[in-house]
Formats: sequence, C-alpha cells, structure tokens
Amino acid sequence: MEYNIVPMDRSHVPQIAELERECFSAPWSEAMLTEALFDPQASFIVAEAEDGGVLGYAGLQVVLDEGYIDNIAVEPAARRHGVADELLDVFCRFGEVHLAFLTLEVRSSNEPAIALYRKHGFEEAGRRKDYYTKPTEDAVIMTRYFRRIPKEDA
Ligand code: COA
Repeated sequence: MEYNIVPMDRSHVPQIAELERECFSAPWSEAMLTEALFDPQASFIVAEAEDGGVLGYAGLQVVLDEGYIDNIAVEPAARRHGVADELLDVFCRFGEVHLAFLTLEVRSSNEPAIALYRKHGFEEAGRRKDYYTKPTEDAVIMTRYFRRIPKEDA
C-alpha cells in the first residue's frame, strides 16, 4: 500500500470528517478539524495515498511536555496494513524527545485499538466509568511514559 505521512491541510478536512462519522458516535465536524489547523497545540497527520485520498489520520494535542492523542482512524479498506502503526510511530518518536508521556482514552470494547496501543508501549493507567455515550461504555486510559533523551544526546 503506497502512501506518505503528511501534515493535515484544508484539502483533507472533508474526508477526515467523513471517516470520523464512519468510525465514531461523537465525530469531529469539519469546523472542529479546521479549527485544529490553526491551533498551535494541535498536530494532525494524514496517511495520504498517491491520488490524495486519506487512508488514515491521527491527532495530537501537546500541553507543555504532556501529549494527548485525540483521534486515530484508518479507512476500513486500508486496515491491517500497518497504517495506524506508522501514524502512531510518528507521535511516539516525537514523544521520545519532547514529552514526559503520551496518553489517550479508548472504549473498553475496542480491542483493535487497545492492541495497537499496547504494541506501542502504552499501558492501562485507569478507567473512566461510563465516559462514552451512544453506547454508554467505560473509557480505558492508556499511557506511555518516556524516559527523555537529553536534547544534546538526541
Ligand atoms: N484486531 C486485533 N489487533 C489489531 C486489529 C484487529 N482488528 N487491528 C489492528 N490491531 C493492532 C495489532 O496489534 C496490529 O499489529 P500487528 O499487525 O503486528 O498485529 C497493530 O494494531 C497495528 O495494526 P495496523 O494495521 O497499523 O492498524 P490499522 O491501520 O488497521 O488501524 C485502528 C487500527 C484501530 C486505527 C483501526 O481499526 C480503526 O480505524 N478503527 C476505528 C477507529 C478507532 O477505533 N480508533 C481508535 C479510537 S481510540
């Protein structure tokens, strides 16, 4: 599967909003995604096919040295080809140099996503009871801590 990892730009927003609607019961709208383009704390990356199609995307918020992964999703037809691996790896490599930890919430029944995060060194750090609606479900908080490499050695 041929694709490049690129920063999100305006051209990706409609396709990402569509994928959000396909994957999540509380999807980010085009307006929310467009706002993220201008948010200096937000970083969205896209797995872009040669024809410009969005195969997957992921979004990160950084506050000081804390990273929070908001979104990650891959087109159903492009799943199980390592796209999410590549996207998450970008944020983990950033975290190794710049962050104390990366954290996120995931539905407790979302086994593919939990397996993905475990593979990338995230561990269960707690639960938020009935955090999600439509359907109501607990969130599992998963966190990966980084032993930061001093910048002069990085
Ligand atoms: N069952 C079990 N493990 C799975 C899996 C599945 N269906 N899909 C992915 N994984 C795990 C595996 O550990 C896999 O590593 P492996 O191939 O060495 O076994 C790892 O994730 C990476 O797989 P990859 O092919 O990169 O994942 P993907 O590109 O198919 O994307 C999701 C994975 C979770 C992003 C994708 O299923 C998706 O978009 N789901 C809907 C949106 C969603 O739930 N996002 C997470 C919100 S918290």
